[in-house]
Amino acid sequence: MAVTYFENQKTFKLDTPNTSYIMGIQDQAGYLLHYYYGKKLNQPDVSHLARTWEPPYTPERNDRDKLSFLDAAPFEYPTGGIGDFREHCLEIRTEGGHNAVELSYRSHSIRRGKQSLPGLPATFGTEADCESLSIILSDELLGLEVELLYTAFTHLDVITRSVKVTNLGTKENVIFLTKVLSACLDMDNQDYSMLSLHGAWARERRMQYRKLGIGRQGVFSERGETSHQDHPFIALTSPNVTQTGGEVYGFHFVYSGNFEAQTGVDQFGVTRTVMGINPYNFCWKLRSGEAFQAPEVVMVYSGEGLGHMTRTYHDLYRNHLIRSAWKDRKRPILINNWEGTYFDFNTEKLLAIARGAAELGIEMLVMDDGWFGNRFDDNRALGDWFVNEQKLPGGLKYLADEINRLGMKFGIWMEPEMVSPDSDLYRAHPDWAIQVPGRRAGLCRNQYVLDLTRPEILEYVWERICAILKSAHIEYVKWDMNRQLADLGSFALESDRQGELYHRYVLAVYELQERLHREFPEILLENCSGGGARFDPGMLYYSPQIWCSDDTDAIERLAIQEGTALIYPLSTIGAHVSDCPNHTVGRITPFETRGHVALAGTFGYELDITRLSQQDRDMIPRQVELYHRYNDLVREGDYYRIASYRENHEFDCWQVVSKDRKQALVTFVQVLGRANYHSRVLRLQGLDPDACYRIQGTDRIFGGDTLMYAGLSMENMWGDFRSGLISLVRVAKNN
Ligand code: GLA
Repeated sequence: MAVTYFENQKTFKLDTPNTSYIMGIQDQAGYLLHYYYGKKLNQPDVSHLARTWEPPYTPERNDRDKLSFLDAAPFEYPTGGIGDFREHCLEIRTEGGHNAVELSYRSHSIRRGKQSLPGLPATFGTEADCESLSIILSDELLGLEVELLYTAFTHLDVITRSVKVTNLGTKENVIFLTKVLSACLDMDNQDYSMLSLHGAWARERRMQYRKLGIGRQGVFSERGETSHQDHPFIALTSPNVTQTGGEVYGFHFVYSGNFEAQTGVDQFGVTRTVMGINPYNFCWKLRSGEAFQAPEVVMVYSGEGLGHMTRTYHDLYRNHLIRSAWKDRKRPILINNWEGTYFDFNTEKLLAIARGAAELGIEMLVMDDGWFGNRFDDNRALGDWFVNEQKLPGGLKYLADEINRLGMKFGIWMEPEMVSPDSDLYRAHPDWAIQVPGRRAGLCRNQYVLDLTRPEILEYVWERICAILKSAHIEYVKWDMNRQLADLGSFALESDRQGELYHRYVLAVYELQERLHREFPEILLENCSGGGARFDPGMLYYSPQIWCSDDTDAIERLAIQEGTALIYPLSTIGAHVSDCPNHTVGRITPFETRGHVALAGTFGYELDITRLSQQDRDMIPRQVELYHRYNDLVREGDYYRIASYRENHEFDCWQVVSKDRKQALVTFVQVLGRANYHSRVLRLQGLDPDACYRIQGTDRIFGGDTLMYAGLSMENMWGDFRSGLISLVRVAKNN
């Protein structure tokens, strides 16, 4: 049983293989209080952790100090306006202008499996995979019902949470939701640090630790999308946490818009952590009978360091979030023309690239930005999804057929959410852009965001997507989104609903991608947002891979891919070999190293093969062979972080081990060479300590225990930016 209710103690206990999550109903007022989350417990009786017997007593014992109680109790879902002065999950405004919400327990139900969240991405699982708990709380005065939804996975240390708020008031009753977060966790661990991911365009998801202190701190997006800058993930880590030791509480938000993840220590040394939709410019009008569904938070506790958390998220997302028909398939090795040609291409040029690529074993040509309307540069034509016949005579069909004739697949780039002021679409419908009436909306990359919350605009965009995808044999789509939202305003929403626009926009994007998933199930979809600004679990529900960063430099990618792989499986990380000097940093790295780094992702090329040096071209067949040899392992195996260049400033190392522990691949990148230096010892992980492994291509055999506890030595290499792959295969002991 993953979920149990203990009637005597009025306690709920959620169990995963190694963790327990426990909460209970406090007697008279019916408050739902959080007791415990961490290593698995046999017994549910931990209610003493809520301290309801200590002063300030619970209200029924001493009503005089109700506020003191409310300000100290570990609420499972804290609300605003009644005397809990810490961070809340739910804040409202009534028509009368009041904001108090007080929730009490009403009922609960437990069932096997997991329900989907209407209109939202969410993890899924069968009755054998998980069990779910629904707890109903309500505020009788307001006529407001709150359903807390939990799912505990039976084979993974995962607990998911989400919240539904329903207005059950009388007919005229309107409640404005000004904040609806999805999860809260109170706990005593005040000496923890917060691990989060930060960056900028071309520098996404770098890891950062911050020691927790008194006061609130967190990560946020108010950009209308997940963003390059911050990521909807935090982990609370115990002091000196490592890959293999220490406690980690991971929180990850399955959402692609504004978010808030906040934590901080209070006056009593309790750490409260919350996560959900950012309340910035959020105001949702809830009429009687209407419900608001908040997105899901995925919580993972690991008592064995960061590595166990990482592999738990990887397994969850691979098996219980990504739905694409491609999720378990080896993806075709693609060549994308963006860095190769930018806007300067035509059918002839693309076919020359395709011919050169096909000869070397590359399997798909992806035509990036610039094939439609008047799109000769990035100042115009977004929204005009009609083929530019000047560049592509014969249209997409001719090009796709020619590429197919070479034995290659064909894919395209689109940016369906946008409109350029210099476009036929904008000239016909200037009001279709998100904007504040009377104010000239700010441009970004010379483009506006379409107001997809209006059904006629969404239908128009969908009709264009379908028409393009049906016009030729298109097997892959890169769905881009190249600006953030500002000047929020929709001509379709009433004034008291303008605060819904951010969230409605995200729902509309989900609606379009859901249609794409349903109507074109065989298309391989890769999401993208100016590189990796919308790399989040929400988008993975629709696409099995996401372009990780516009920075394709192998060395810059080390930290970007390390931070990304902290929570995302390697199979989701868009990674390509590009030309040098690298277009974002000007660095020159060996072609081999670029290949090794891209092999830890989806793998492909992003260059003009017709202009590549013969020496580099000659290496492509070998890289193609490595991809085919190791991709099953990389896609399906367990990921271990062995060393981090971000920490040691010298070298990087990661390892993938097959689930049956028969095969492993170690990637080592020596960033800077050192004079007169000896070899580095790498302590591997995840092998069978009782088995023996051969280093492929040699006759060297080591015990799994030797490789993990004593280590494998990696010689100091000549030069900077050098790399190596070490493949290990389990052999019989007497071999
Ligand atoms: C974004 C993407 C790039 C490329 C360009 C095209 O920046 O991240 O890969 O597709 O748009 O304009």
